[in-house]
Parts: sequence; structure tokens; C-alpha cells
Amino acid sequence: MNPIKVGLLGLGTVGTGVVRIIEGHQEDLQRQTGSPIEVVKILVQNMSKLRNISVDPAKLTENAWEIIENPEIDVIIEVMGGVTGTKEYLLSALDKGKHIVTANKDLMALHGPEILAKAAEKDCDVFYEASVAGGIPIIRTLVEGFTSDRIIKIMGIVNGTTNYILTKMSQEGAAYLDVLKEAQDLGYAEADPTSDVEGIDAARKMTILATLGFHANVSLSDVSVKGISKISKEDILYGKKLGYEVKLLGIAENHNGHISVSVEPTMVKSSHPLSSVSGVFNAIYIHGEAVGETMFYGPGAGELPTATSIVADLVAVVRNLKLGVNGRTMLTAYKEKKIKTDEQISSKNFILLHVEDKAGVLAQITQVFAHYEVSLESVLQHPNANNPKAEIIIITHDAIQASIKKVLMEFESMDVIHAIQSVYRVEG
Ligand code: NAP
Ligand code: HSE
Repeated sequence: MNPIKVGLLGLGTVGTGVVRIIEGHQEDLQRQTGSPIEVVKILVQNMSKLRNISVDPAKLTENAWEIIENPEIDVIIEVMGGVTGTKEYLLSALDKGKHIVTANKDLMALHGPEILAKAAEKDCDVFYEASVAGGIPIIRTLVEGFTSDRIIKIMGIVNGTTNYILTKMSQEGAAYLDVLKEAQDLGYAEADPTSDVEGIDAARKMTILATLGFHANVSLSDVSVKGISKISKEDILYGKKLGYEVKLLGIAENHNGHISVSVEPTMVKSSHPLSSVSGVFNAIYIHGEAVGETMFYGPGAGELPTATSIVADLVAVVRNLKLGVNGRTMLTAYKEKKIKTDEQISSKNFILLHVEDKAGVLAQITQVFAHYEVSLESVLQHPNANNPKAEIIIITHDAIQASIKKVLMEFESMDVIHAIQSVYRVEG
């Protein structure tokens, strides 16, 4: 039996896991695909680096073209990361008729349509299960499991680092910067955490999920993004008092083909299953028109969880090879993209104001809401013993985003409002 020959770009955290799974599960993989699978060449940056896996040194190379141009290699697994150079490698590999498996959400969110179009032109597979929520098989679930349904909402905790930080802030009452430092010391957060804490990593993942779920090419610039760096202990405390947990949620909605996608800190009702997803775990909630509500939970990163998704993609490529049907899947963006305006997006909101504590203030505030036709669900006032200032927490009913923006603009000019401390979307 001829083996399927794999070229691996990268032997870091995920690449190491891929080698371990391919070697450790060889017998099962062979039974499931009908072929032995062999990693024949591995690209690294530094061949003399000490590694926590033993590989034949003859397999290592620092020259990507030795893999891309090797006619013996059937499939390339890309786990090196980065965008510009990686895109060039993968497009060249597709030109040579090689199938691709990648974990690279940055690349797929930014250049997915171009790469998938090239793959279709060359009858090649490009699979990227591990690019969203590492070990949770969410992409195949969306593309295959939900294929007969219409998805109306996807909400995800798709970044483990921020979920770890928010969990610690909630459970221990810790401050954002203290927990971030701890997460960095433990190796959960990167030395430069910007992409995670500012919501960019989650936005890239939501771009991929919204594109697949709604069948339209959603791009990163369509996603409204807010990170967690401004969340205070106070926000979390008041949220809890009212029965909410603050989570960094990716929220993608589709109403009759009109789409909105955001990543933002959100007050999630404690009764909603997303509110209890803690630590570095990920979860994706999908609401289908026919199926109703579903949720998928698991590890969003890590060596072996991520590698299982990659090797599952590899199995799919090999099965397609056997059937001669490579290049026929995952091209699902066949609908015109219509992105909602602020006038079309609506949600409940949590608004925390610092106000003067005197007669008539609440009336002035509620008048502004009434003027812009925003209905209120609840209002809670906290007096402050040390100064003539009070904290008012308002939860609105579903309200048009444009109206909320007008309300907040008017609040900015009111003398009795000292600060608009925070504004969060509310879900659940
Ligand atoms: P990593 O540990 O930093 O490993 C990167 C590997 O690629 C290293 O082996 C490095 O070589 C090699 N490499 C990087 N740039 C290179 C270049 N220009 N030329 C040659 N080799 C190069 O990264 P990772 O955590 O495994 O992540 C890999 C990819 O998977 C990324 O796209 C990431 O977003 C994605 N991903 C990761 C996780 C996770 O849990 N880590 C989860 C889901 C998705 P050296 O070893 O010689 O330095
Ligand atoms: N930085 C990402 C996270 C890793 O924290 O979830 C997986 O993409």
C-alpha cells in the first residue's frame, strides 16, 4: 500500500501534536483511510533548536520550497502561523496540486476566499477545522451537520486567554491588569497580548464562522470589535448582582440575509449555558431556524486538542483522494453579503452611569430614553456614602443600536451625569 506523504510546515506546539497523533494513532488512521500516513518533511525556523519530540533530523528543513516543490508530497499541513509568507507558500502548493490542512485563523480570516478559490480551481482540498476553537469540531459541524438548516445566530467564547482572565476577575474579584500578568506568567497569554485582549483573535474566528454559517463572504472589516481591557471590577460586580457574567462574546446574527457580526464584552444571563464556560475553555452556541438552540464545548487550544482537529482534516483529505472528489467541499459562500446598519441591529443593553445624587436626576435620564423610544427593563441605584454621587445601572429592553448611540451622546452633554462608566450588550 502506498503511503500518503505529508509535508509539515512548523514543529511548534501544534506541529508537535500533529506528529504525535499521526505516529501514535497510525493503525487506526490506516484502517480509516486505507493508507499508511507518513510525515516525510518538516519545515522549521531553526534546525538546531532543542525539541520535546524526537524526529529524524533528516526530515527537518529550513527551506519551505523543499516541501512545496517536492512531487512526492500529497498533503501540506500548515502550522507555522503568519500571513504574508504563509499565503505565498499555500497558494504555490495549491498550484502544484497539493491539498492543504491549516490551523491558521489569521490567514483564513484575511485571505480565505482567495485560497479557497485557488483550491477549487486546482481540484484541491483546503480544510481548516483547527483555526476556530482548536479541539472543538465546529467547522465541520457548521458545514455538514447544519447543512439542511438555516442558522440565525452564532455566539461564541472563542478566545481562551480572555475567558481565563474574565473568569479569574469574576471568581476572585481580581483587577484586569493583575490577572493578565498572572496569565502571562502561566503561559496562557502571550507576551504581547493585544490580539487576544483587544478581541482581534476572536474577530478573526467569528469571520470564519459567520462566513460558513451564513453562506456569505464576511470579512474582518465587517466585524465590530471591542476587547476586554476596559472592563472594571465594578462592572463585573454589578453584573453579578443583577444575575449576569461578563464574557467576551463573538455574536453573529442573520435576519433574512441581513448579517451583523461583533466581538464585545457582553453581560450573559447566569441561566444561559455560555455564562458558565470558565477558564481557557471555548464554547459555541448555534441557533438554527429548524433545530433550535445547540451548544458545543471544549478546549480551544493546546497541542493535542488542536492536533486532533488537524489530523481529522487530514483523514478527510485522504478519504476524498480515495473517492477522487477533492476540491468539492467547504466552498459555501454563495449568498450576497448584506451587512446590517446600526438602525437594523438591536439588543438589550447594560448601562452604568455615575450621576449626581439629587432630586429629578433619574427623571431626566429616563426622559432621554423615552425620547429615543428605548424601553427600560430595570433600573438600580447605588448611593455612595462618601460623596454626592450615585451609580445607576440600567438594563434596557431590546433597543436599536442607533438609538442607544443617540441616548449616550445626549448623556455626554448632561451636567448631572458625571460619567458613562460602561455600556455592554446583554444576552440570555
Ligand atoms: P509555534 O509553537 O510558535 O510554532 C511555530 C512553528 O513554525 C515552529 O516550529 C517554528 O520553527 C515554525 N516557523 C514559524 N515561522 C517560520 C518560518 N518563517 N519559517 C520556517 N518555520 C517557521 O506556533 P503554534 O502555537 O504551534 O501555532 C501554529 C499555528 O496554529 C498558528 O497559526 C496558530 O494560530 C494556530 N493555532 C494554534 C493553537 C495552539 O493551541 N497553539 C490552537 C489553534 C490554532 P522553530 O520551531 O524552529 O521556531
Ligand atoms: N490565543 C488563542 C486563545 C489561542 O487564547 O484562544 C487559540 O487560537
